[in-house]
Amino acid sequence: MNFPVALAFLVLLFSITFFVIHNEQTDPYMDEIFHVPQAKQYCQGNFSHWDPMITTLPGLYLMSVGILVPLGKALGVETTNVCSVLWLRSVNLLFAIGNFYVIYAIMCKLHQKEKIEPKIAVTALTLSLLPLLFFFNFLYYTDVGSTFFVLFMYLLHLQGNKALASIVGIIAIMFRQTNIIWVIFMAGLTARQVIVDWFKEKSGNSYQRKSIKEHPDVSTATNPSEDNEVTLFQIVKLLLNPPQHKKLNLIYLIFCILKSSACHIIIILGFLVFVYVNQGIVVATVPQKLLEFRYFIIPYLIFRLNIRTGFWVQLWTEAMLYMVVNFLTVYLFVNKPFKWENSPDVQRFIW
Ligand SMILES: *[C@@H]1O[C@H](CO)[C@@H](O)[C@H](O)[C@H]1NC(C)=O
Repeated sequence: MNFPVALAFLVLLFSITFFVIHNEQTDPYMDEIFHVPQAKQYCQGNFSHWDPMITTLPGLYLMSVGILVPLGKALGVETTNVCSVLWLRSVNLLFAIGNFYVIYAIMCKLHQKEKIEPKIAVTALTLSLLPLLFFFNFLYYTDVGSTFFVLFMYLLHLQGNKALASIVGIIAIMFRQTNIIWVIFMAGLTARQVIVDWFKEKSGNSYQRKSIKEHPDVSTATNPSEDNEVTLFQIVKLLLNPPQHKKLNLIYLIFCILKSSACHIIIILGFLVFVYVNQGIVVATVPQKLLEFRYFIIPYLIFRLNIRTGFWVQLWTEAMLYMVVNFLTVYLFVNKPFKWENSPDVQRFIW
């Protein structure tokens, strides 16, 4: 399997599931009863409207209006129609496909030496079908867009485009304030890279001198595979015992770290101002639910992107497993609606 085949398969599968679910649940479902009316108000240009039950910043609604209103104008559809439940949900479908592409691109970047494109395509396909995230692809929730912008920030970071990564990081926070964690994570990765580069430069010099003395004609100092073997222990040792000008070295290193993570620091400071003004991280005043499973989606994806891809049999087993779980979830959602004793509304099975 390669990228175009996986993409075509995913688009087909997502489209079918999208229409199956939409046919069954045309009206806003669960949290959608807050998200959909809010987005509709924005669609009509009423940006002063805010539902106090909503706990996130308005990223999803602004993005939806930014996509749907121009699209409606281009297609000649009335603005009120273009912000229907169907169209709003389909914005998430766009992010779902975006997630597949970004996962694929990150893996290609992280595993470029391994030459395993078909395995990457299958892994990206599988991770795009992660059961915890799967259902939110078809409803108007913030999860899919939030995941997309965090992963997109990670991709831009890996490509070395720090400024754009920071802008995308701000959008991710606009979808979910808790994504500030991932901006801090990117700052950590940047700091780590600066320390590793600094170490390479320091140890490279002394190593080169030594190797030239021992083997005058072989320059092993620039061997890149050995350069990558920088351990935390070595870094700490060097920080405690820098070769010359102890203090100057350390101050210079801290300066380099601050300089290269300046964008992140600005965002983090901005976020602290927001928390101070808002008197808390949550926008609304309603009590928060406890930790939910879906908070583990991004940590899990980042972990999976970084580890080695498994054997073919593992990859296909995982893909099949996810598809069976997703199929059962959709089946239960569509065919087995139930009612709580204390509520007249029809309930449906969802993660
Ligand atoms: C805009 O939102 C405000 C605040 O919720 C509301 O009072 C007002 O009626 C809305 N305006 C329109 C045109 O819907």
